[in-house]
Amino acid sequence: MVAPSTPAAVSVRAARPADVPAIAELSARFAAEDLLLSRTPAQIAGRVGEFLAAVNEVRLMGCVGLSRRRRGLLLYNLCVAPDAQGQGIGALLVDHAGRVGAALGCRLLVAVSKHSGHWFVQQGFTELTARQMPAGWAHAFPPGRGSRLYVRPVTQPGFAEQSIYQNRTESRNL
Ligand SMILES: CC(C)(COP(=O)(O)OP(=O)(O)OC[C@H]1O[C@@H](n2cnc3c(N)ncnc32)[C@H](O)[C@@H]1OP(=O)(O)O)[C@@H](O)C(=O)NCCC(=O)NCCS
Repeated sequence: MVAPSTPAAVSVRAARPADVPAIAELSARFAAEDLLLSRTPAQIAGRVGEFLAAVNEVRLMGCVGLSRRRRGLLLYNLCVAPDAQGQGIGALLVDHAGRVGAALGCRLLVAVSKHSGHWFVQQGFTELTARQMPAGWAHAFPPGRGSRLYVRPVTQPGFAEQSIYQNRTESRNL
C-alpha cells in the first residue's frame, strides 16, 4: 500500500534476504550516531523475516524490524534514508507495522527511542514512564541506554487522548 503523502513510487513490503546489505548499510549510519542499536549484517540476516522494507524501483528507502512480545509488537531498527526523510516514509512504515500487529492479534505497538520520542508522539504514540509501566514490561521491553518506551494501539492512530494506564485490561493482557 502507498500512503497519499508519500512519493508514489515508494511501497512497503516484507524484507527479503537480498535486502540485508542495504538494511545493514542504512542502519549502520544511524547506529554510529547512537540513534539505533548497532547490528551486524549477520544479525540482521538472522532476523530479516521480521523486517519491513520501504522501497522504490531503485533502492531501499527505509526499514523497520517487528518483534512480537506477547500482545505487543515491538518496533526496532526503524530508519529512513537521510535524503528520503520528511516524506512520510517513516509514518508509512509505522502504518504497516500496525497492520501487521492487527493481523497477529497484537494490541499495542511498542517503540523504544532515545532521541526520536517526539516523532513517535507525532505518530500517535504515548510515552510510558517507568512508574506507568505494567509489571513484566521492564523485562519484555528493556529500554536501556537512557531510552524511553512509547506505545500505541495497533489500530488507533489517535491514541493521545486514550491512556493505556487507565485501561488495566489492556495492560494485563499485553
Ligand atoms: C525518525 C524517522 C524514522 C522518521 O522518518 P521520516 O520518514 O523522516 O518521517 P516522516 O516523513 O513520516 O515524518 C516527518 C515528520 O517528522 C518530523 N521528524 C523527523 N524526525 C524527527 C525527530 N527525530 N524528532 C521529531 N520530529 C521528527 C519531521 O520534521 C516531519 O514533521 P512535519 O511533517 O511536521 O514537517 C527518521 O527521521 C529516521 O530514520 N531517523 C533516524 C533513525 C531513528 O532515530 N529512528 C528511530 C529510532 S527508535
